[in-house]
Amino acid sequence: MSAIRFGIVGCGHISKKHVSAIQQLEDADLVAVCDSDLDRANSFVEQNNIAVYSDYDEFIHDNKIDAVIICTPSGLHASMGEKAALGGKHLLIEKPFVLDLKDGNKLVEVCKQQGVKLGVVHPNRMKPAVQALHRAIKDNWFGKITHVNATLRWNRNSNYFKSAAWRGTREYDGGILLNQAIHNIDLLNWLVGPVEEVFAYGTTRLRDIEVEDVCVSSLRLQNEALGIIESAITLYPENLEETLSIFGSEGTAVLGGKTLSRIQEWKFSCLSENDALKQVEEINSRKINVGHNEIVRDFVSAVLNERDPLVSGEEALKTIQLILSIYNSIDNHVPVKVKEMCM
Ligand SMILES: NC(=O)c1ccc[n+]([C@@H]2O[C@H](COP(=O)([O-])OP(=O)(O)OC[C@H]3O[C@@H](n4cnc5c(N)ncnc54)[C@H](O)[C@@H]3O)[C@@H](O)[C@H]2O)c1
Repeated sequence: MSAIRFGIVGCGHISKKHVSAIQQLEDADLVAVCDSDLDRANSFVEQNNIAVYSDYDEFIHDNKIDAVIICTPSGLHASMGEKAALGGKHLLIEKPFVLDLKDGNKLVEVCKQQGVKLGVVHPNRMKPAVQALHRAIKDNWFGKITHVNATLRWNRNSNYFKSAAWRGTREYDGGILLNQAIHNIDLLNWLVGPVEEVFAYGTTRLRDIEVEDVCVSSLRLQNEALGIIESAITLYPENLEETLSIFGSEGTAVLGGKTLSRIQEWKFSCLSENDALKQVEEINSRKINVGHNEIVRDFVSAVLNERDPLVSGEEALKTIQLILSIYNSIDNHVPVKVKEMCM
């Protein structure tokens, strides 16, 4: 196989980033799209050599497609993923790749049995500032980590929830932890996890939705450090910040901005003030919206080179397990041990 032929299902908001990412790669082509709203699928793609489907079952039987990118409402990912994997297609699925651990495990298993790759879109992992933070942790620049903080203070107003029927529903959206805060929670878990235990409160304060709009969680990590996750989509009047802070005996790092893309604090005992400033300037000058491009690039390379994608299904399942532990704590008003949430 010299180039991966992609089909995209779900031609809404996020799919455009995937089209653009595919167009930038020499070893990837977009050959088909599918949306239950045929007008949307047609208007979305103007090139004539792309097949357009409104029926998913027909779409996944198109033998020109090697890999499917799933960009439909989150509650559809598991069943659509399973059908595509059984049809022999490699899979790249938008976050959250599933809303339930049983579905996640099943999908990972089916992909293994079918010999197809399963990648999950967690684009924040690819941001230059996050990659620098990952290296700092791996190289032990923080010394003994004392505590961490993941904060999401965004605004998703009633127009956002009215823009598609699935938004704000338990069955298809999942809640702000599974939809919005997942970006930050995934980073926390990947960089300093695993998390041992959580205790959380969630509530619906302002929006007319089935799921929470504000949530606070306290955490104990496996290495005994503590953590806090604050997530809200009620901020007046607009998005304020998405921030991740890590504190240790030898270092302090705060990544922030509206979408966690800038280094705000970068202080380590192993770096002179001047070197730290130079690093911050260099990293903050890089393009920040590279996440989807890098995820698609990595996925294509994983398929062509027969290796796992950087964010595999198994890897993404760890974040789902943490989030579902937080929901379990909210629902039952008890601390929850993450590894006891059934995988
Ligand atoms: N990684 C990110 O940064 C990021 C950002 C936004 C959204 N997302 C994820 O992407 C997914 C889609 O979000 P969105 O904002 O693009 O939603 P959207 O509502 O804009 O688009 C979803 C599309 O799916 C289509 N669809 C629904 N049911 C279908 C079916 N049965 N068959 C075919 N098409 C169907 C809809 O008609 C719509 O065009 C969600 O899982 C969301 O969490 C990820």
